[in-house]
Order: sequence, then C-alpha cells, then structure tokens
Amino acid sequence: MMNFGYQEEGPPRSVGDIHLWRRISTFCMPYRTLLAFALFLSLLVTGATLSLPYLMQNGIDNYITNQLLSTELRLSGLGRTAIWYGSFIALLFLASFSQILTLEWIGQSIMHTIRQRLFLHLLELDMEFFNTHPTGKLVTRLTNDIQNMHEMFTSVIVTLFNDFLRLIGILILLFWINPELATTMTLFVPIALIITVFFARLARERFRAIRTQLAKLNSFLAEAIAGISILQLFGREESSKKTFNELSEGYLHRTLQQIKLFGTFMPLTEFMSSVAIALIIWHGGGEVIQKRLTLGEFVAFLSYMRLFFQPLRELSQKYSIVQSAMASAERIFQLLDTENRISQPANPVKVQKFKGELQFTNVSFNYEKNTPVLDNISLNLPAGQTIALVGTTGSGKTTLVNLLLRFYDPQKGNITLDDINIADLDLKELRTIIGVIHQDVFILQDTLFANIVLDTGCSRQTVEKILQRTGMTRFINRLPGGLDTLIGEGGQELSTGEKQLLAFARVLCRAPEILILDEATAAIDTESENILEEAIADSFKGRTSLIIAHRLSTIRRADQIIVMSHGKIVEQGSHDQLLREDSHYAKLVAIDLKDGHPLE
Ligand SMILES: Nc1ncnc2c1ncn2[C@@H]1O[C@H](COP(=O)(O)OP(=O)(O)OP(=O)(O)O)[C@@H](O)[C@H]1O
Ligand SMILES: [Mg+2]
Repeated sequence: MMNFGYQEEGPPRSVGDIHLWRRISTFCMPYRTLLAFALFLSLLVTGATLSLPYLMQNGIDNYITNQLLSTELRLSGLGRTAIWYGSFIALLFLASFSQILTLEWIGQSIMHTIRQRLFLHLLELDMEFFNTHPTGKLVTRLTNDIQNMHEMFTSVIVTLFNDFLRLIGILILLFWINPELATTMTLFVPIALIITVFFARLARERFRAIRTQLAKLNSFLAEAIAGISILQLFGREESSKKTFNELSEGYLHRTLQQIKLFGTFMPLTEFMSSVAIALIIWHGGGEVIQKRLTLGEFVAFLSYMRLFFQPLRELSQKYSIVQSAMASAERIFQLLDTENRISQPANPVKVQKFKGELQFTNVSFNYEKNTPVLDNISLNLPAGQTIALVGTTGSGKTTLVNLLLRFYDPQKGNITLDDINIADLDLKELRTIIGVIHQDVFILQDTLFANIVLDTGCSRQTVEKILQRTGMTRFINRLPGGLDTLIGEGGQELSTGEKQLLAFARVLCRAPEILILDEATAAIDTESENILEEAIADSFKGRTSLIIAHRLSTIRRADQIIVMSHGKIVEQGSHDQLLREDSHYAKLVAIDLKDGHPLE
C-alpha cells in the first residue's frame, strides 16, 4: 500500500523517555505557577469527590437509622447533611471548572508557542530540506502533532494526578472504614492493573494504526483535490475512487478493531467492578446484619468502589494519548533541531554600494548524490552588462540562479559579488540586491496591490507609476476592483502572462542592483514584451542583468551570450561570434526559427 508521503517514523516512543520529558517540561516552565495551581485544585477536586460518600454515610448512620435521636433532630440533622452535600457538590463543580479552564489555557498557550517556534524555524530552513520533506508531512507536524501534544497537556498530565490522588484516597478510606473488607477489595487492584496494562498495549498499536491510516487518507485527499483538473483531464476518477475507497475502508476496518477492543475492555472492567460490588453486598451485607458494619459505612463502601474503578477504566486511553503525544513531541523536536544548511555568516561583510560584478569560479553542484547538475562552471558577469543564458531544457540554468541566491550552496567552487564571497554577505541583503523573476510566479491570496508591494513598503503612487511605464495599466483596468482586486485562490485567477507581468512589477518595486529573468517573458505577447523591455532597459540601465530566455529577439540584445549544455558552459560570446556553423548556439537558433520566432 502506498503511503502518500506519510509515514509514522521510528518505533513507538517509550512513555518513560526521560530526555524527551525533560524537553517537554521546558515548555511548561513559564506556566509553572499555573500548573501548581491546577495541581492544588486536584486536591480540592479529590477532597470534594471523596467527601460525598462520607457525607452519605454520616446522613444514614447519624440520622436516618439513628433511633436514639428525636425525629425532629434527625430531620434537621439530615437537612444539614444535605446542605453540606450540596456545598461540596458546588465546590467540586467550581474546582473542576477552574481546573479544566486552567489546563486548557496552559495547553493552548504551550501549543501556540510551539506552533510559532516551528513555523519560524520552517521559514528559515533551506530548499534542500523542503525538497526532501513533502508538504503534507510538514502540515501534519504543525497541526496533528501539535494537537496530539495538546491532548496530553489538557486531558492527561494533571488528570492522571487527580486519578492517582483519588485511588490512594479511596484505599485509605476503605481501610479506615473496614480493614477486613478493604483487604478483600485490594485483591482486585493487581487484577485490574494487569488487565489495564494488557489492554493499553493492545490499544496503543491500534491507535497508531488508526492515526497512520487517517494521515494517509488526508494526504491522498489533499493531493486529489489539489490536482482535480489533471485528475478529470486524464480520466483518473475511477482509479482515484478505488484508491480512496481502499483507504477509507482501511480506516473503517481499523476503527472497528479499536471499537472491538474497547467493546471487550469496557465491559470487562465493568464486570470486575460488578463482581467487587457483589462481593461487598454479600460479605459487607452480612457484616451489617451482624452489626459489625453500619448501614452508612456499607453504602459509603459501595460508592467508593464505584469511584475506584472509573479511573482504571480510562487509564488505557490516557496511556495511548501519552504514547502518541510522545511520538509527536519527538517529531516536533526533530524538526526544531533540523539545522539550516545555508549558514548565515556570523559577521557579514558590509558594503555601501555594489557595482554588481558576478564571478563563478569552478562551481560544481548536484541536488542528489552522483547526479552532477553543474560541472565546474567558471563565469564572469561584468558589472553593468546584460548577459543572456541559453541552453536546452534541464541544462542547469535555473540551478545557476538558485546558487546565486543561495537557495543551495555549491559543493565545490565559489561565487563572488564584487570580489566578496556571497557566503560572507548577509543572506537577506544578498536576496534584496538580486531581483529575480522566476518561471513560476507565486501568488499570495491577497489584493493585487499587496501582491506587487509584498514587504517593501512601496507607496501606491510608485506602484501606479511602475504600472504605467510597463504598460500594465491596460490589464489592471480590466480587473473589477483595479489594484484592490483579490487574486489567487478564491479570488480572481490570473493568466500565466498576467502573472509574469505582476512579477515584473514586483521586482521593479524593489529596484534591485542585479536583475535576473528566468524565462520571465515566455508567456507574454510580443507587444507587451516590447513595452516591458523598454521599461526594464530604462530602470536597469547600467545594472547587471542575467536573462535566461528562449526568444531570440531578447537574447540578441545581450552584451554577451552564454550557452549551457548538460551542466557545462559550452560557448560564450556575442550573437555574431556564436552564430558559426555547427555551434550549439546555431542549433538552438535553428530550432527557434522553426518554432516561428524569426530573427529580426
Ligand atoms: N530540486 C531538485 N532536486 C533534484 N533535482 C533537481 C531539482 N531541481 C532541478 N533538478 C535537476 O537538475 C537539472 C537542471 O535543472 P534546472 O532547473 O536547472 O534546468 P533548466 O536549465 O533551468 O531547465 P529549463 O529550461 O527547463 O528551465 C535537471 O536535470 C533537473 O532534473
Ligand atoms: Mg529553468
């Protein structure tokens, strides 16, 4: 069965992993006062819960069956007991309410912190990391895994303390009421514990299976919905339906197994608690008849026994929540510990103004081991020149740009900007100096204006001026809300060409020192392209620009043309120099002519 990008890594974590607990507890530290308060509330909750059977015992023995007092006294005494009973119920309610509120608050706050830390960390990670980690998996980290931990904080840690206090309290009270009967009852404790641990083990595996299956189902759904047009286009509905049914059935099957398990476990503990109660009625009832146990004590004993079995019943569920939370915590910490392979220099070199000369020296690079993508590239881009980079599909042009922007670092060689190694420049600064228009334009779900400005703080007037100069006003005016039209998913969809125009406006807003166009005009019509090129030539006069293009009209205008093939630079020179017979360039030109883009 396929995994759809999702796997639960590693063996299940041991609940007793001290190292992991220590790390989890560092997140709790800021809330230690509140946690102490929640623990204090545990005392109140347990105290109030356990006082109720005692009050019942008091009411029965001192007033209901007590023939020594007058009827009036017995009635008023019973009334007082009832008031006490009511007060303790109120206290129980208040204490439980405050405890749940406090725990939820702590749990949610911790999750908020972790979520923030995780997202900030993700923002800083390098491209290689994202290449090897599918989106679905990362989203699961930020949602499911954090939710799992949240459950542990709110419904397990402190409530386990509640349960523990309650069990100890009940045992003490039982022995206090009647040691002999209590000794008989304690025989049930090890049996109940063995059954609980046994079921917890079984349940753990099943919970795990359910979670994995659900994650697979989710990944598949996400994939199917994201690619619905491809799916319909290639008539894959039937096979998708089949896969989905299989996944969904698998989920149903696993859930049913879990239900079967709990269907056995719950009645079993219920059965045990009933046997215990039958024993008390038989043995304790006899003691009442022989006057060795009062009726009140008898009733209290029965109530305590009921209270005793309840936490045991929930223990196996809580155990599996802790299990899954530990696994989630580990995955979250693993992600937090992943280091960015693109190192930010400790003391970045400061430069007032860049001239814009770029130099690649013996640069070799591969994404995956043993498949070289760039092979010993040496290249000089003089300041202020326009260089065109051409080459067949997959020859490594975009990769070259990726290295320049330090999305990846080369395995061999180095890249300098004005004789400074780009690794010694502040990463953010480097990426502001170099403006890139990519093959794929990423659109945010926001207004057109916000999409152009991004974080630059460019004013509306500047944007309007840029639009005017690039001839984009025509296209903006067609949109219903002009610059304020919502675009992207859920809003106005843009055509590929319109997206590329938008990318130009973005870069012009930033006015970078160096401009890189990666097939940026492929989808723009010739007329718009001409207007654009003028605007760009105007804005970037005297600045270094690197243009990756297929269109010869664009390439010809460059000061220098570089031809790449299979990760190597094979030719370099001006259009006329390169247009010899049998050159790579001549072949590319010939192909382009056939495609109907004649040379001017
Ligand atoms: N993230 C990646 N992981 C692994 N291999 C990659 C990755 N990106 C690109 N490659 C591989 O590197 C080689 C060069 O890709 P690159 O994108 O640089 O080509 P290109 O010259 O820009 O091609 P095109 O003209 O089609 O845009 C290709 O063989 C491609 O399969
Ligand atoms: Mg490319």
